[in-house]
Amino acid sequence: MKVNLQNVLSRIEAVYQCGEKEDGTHTRMAFSKEDVKARNLMVEWGKGINMTHRIDSAGNLILHMDGRIRENPAILMGSHMDTVPDGGRYDGVLGCIGALGVCEAMHDAGYVPEHPIEIIVFTDEEGFRFGKGLLGSSSICGIDTEISDEDLDIYGDKRGDVMKSYGISSANVMDAEIKKDAVHCFVELHIEQGPILYKTGRPIGVVSSIAGVNRYEITVTGEANHAGSTTMADRKDALVAAAEFIGSVPEITTENGNQFTVATVGTIDVTPYSVNVIPGTCTFSLEIRDQDKEVMRLIEEKLHARLKDVCRKRNVKSTFTATSGHNPAPMSLWVQGAIERAAERCGYSCCSIPSGAFHDSLVMTESFPTGMIFVPSVNGISHSKDELTLDEDIEKGVDVLLETILEMDRSEK
Ligand code: GLV
Ligand code: MN
Ligand code: MN
Repeated sequence: MKVNLQNVLSRIEAVYQCGEKEDGTHTRMAFSKEDVKARNLMVEWGKGINMTHRIDSAGNLILHMDGRIRENPAILMGSHMDTVPDGGRYDGVLGCIGALGVCEAMHDAGYVPEHPIEIIVFTDEEGFRFGKGLLGSSSICGIDTEISDEDLDIYGDKRGDVMKSYGISSANVMDAEIKKDAVHCFVELHIEQGPILYKTGRPIGVVSSIAGVNRYEITVTGEANHAGSTTMADRKDALVAAAEFIGSVPEITTENGNQFTVATVGTIDVTPYSVNVIPGTCTFSLEIRDQDKEVMRLIEEKLHARLKDVCRKRNVKSTFTATSGHNPAPMSLWVQGAIERAAERCGYSCCSIPSGAFHDSLVMTESFPTGMIFVPSVNGISHSKDELTLDEDIEKGVDVLLETILEMDRSEK
């Protein structure tokens, strides 16, 4: 049994083209018409191999293949198809299309798995539209996403209106929960999005754990005043204080963390936002990620202390509010073992690797035995149109996914 590589490659390209915009960029923002178009392609390809489909109340698209024993818990595969702005071809898509390739290989070989098999295309993994990702996977795991139809997206549109494209509303997303005993395992194939596999020349990574992510909103409040008549000594400049704090983030993170600890300020907003007015407020995001939640707590403590020091010195005030948090998430040893053996049977060298990026597996692992297979990203580039994974590595990734699923199908919990 072998996954048809040409079908995988041409489907990845077809999905990428669904995101083509008039300005020449490729974006499939969650709930957009480009995203719906790509999901419809998945449905059509699934139909071609007798897979049925449903959309759950969180908008997850789920393709289903019967197993020999109907009552067996399902083997789940999948990932997401939404992208960041002008994203690449492979992030998320590889896990969905690769899973379809595995089901196609089984179908074409006349192989009937012991377990039902389902491919999940998760809703809004990236989360850039409403500032909160992992919507579909969190709902499946019974984690309250605390969304409301009144939430506004980056364009000022209401979530309730935007989610109509999937036929869902915020009030019902928690009905998507899947009970733990209904699932045998979940396996996600994904590009690494970092440089380790590419640099070390290894085609397969077995993910050991996914970094935790804590996010905060910080507001520095000073005093808006005339930029010409307020002396430097009399200013309470919110942006200058914020800039001093932001400039210290790399140093504090490096001094108190380890090689995987990262902290990022990714958005910033100033009011009144005028060339001739001293900024009165500055609001910005802060994100801390690490494989160890104690390290994340320490970095938070150190950064918060630095913010207070800077604000005291510059005579401004600040608030520091946690907006979301996920602890680091280890992958199932059972599934990791199956992936390692699968790579060995295929003759591909592999290594254990932590993930700095988050994935739907970050939450799925809390509810179900979960594993992730990584394939190399050329030069470690991702979330960019230059994202590239070589065809030969895609082939190895889907081979290992198929072998892993075959072993999991035979294996007892
Ligand atoms: C998602 O890809 C993230 O790690 O931010
Ligand atoms: Mn991504
Ligand atoms: Mn992804």
